[in-house]
Amino acid sequence: MATFMRASCSLDWPMENLLVWNKKHLGTNTYGFRPVYEMIALFRNKGFKVENRALGDVITFPRLTRKPNHPAEKPLDLLLFLLETAGKDNVLDVFMGSGTTLLACQYLGLSGTGIEINDKYFDIACQRLQDAISKQ
Ligand SMILES: C[S@@+](CC[C@H](N)C(=O)[O-])C[C@H]1O[C@@H](n2cnc3c(N)ncnc32)[C@H](O)[C@@H]1O
Repeated sequence: MATFMRASCSLDWPMENLLVWNKKHLGTNTYGFRPVYEMIALFRNKGFKVENRALGDVITFPRLTRKPNHPAEKPLDLLLFLLETAGKDNVLDVFMGSGTTLLACQYLGLSGTGIEINDKYFDIACQRLQDAISKQ
């Protein structure tokens, strides 16, 4: 939460929501309750509004069932939902990993930029994007 608040202050964009992403899967915790969710922060720039007024702040997208491209790979459907609902053009993912965000941009016709420090995941992201482009 402190990280989210610091980001909100340095961007000067209010944190509008903390979405709960229900992964429908029990994660690991030896002593306490096992985690089923992750938080997603929504920072609101001037003029931004979620147009679909039927949406609540708990979203359910099952975690991946296939072998992931990255240990923290996000489901493509989750990124498609977030970008369709709250995204605009010029998407920036500074922790690109295996490139799921940019893949969603490609499917939605948005322009996106990704930054990834690890060569292995950078190459995987490029390959996933190339595969998607060649199939379209
Ligand atoms: C949670 S993963 C992203 C997973 C991604 N959403 C996906 O679906 O594959 C975060 C990524 O950020 C990368 N990373 C960490 N620190 C970074 C930095 N300073 N600059 C660029 N990438 C960084 C890690 O190598 C890791 O692949």
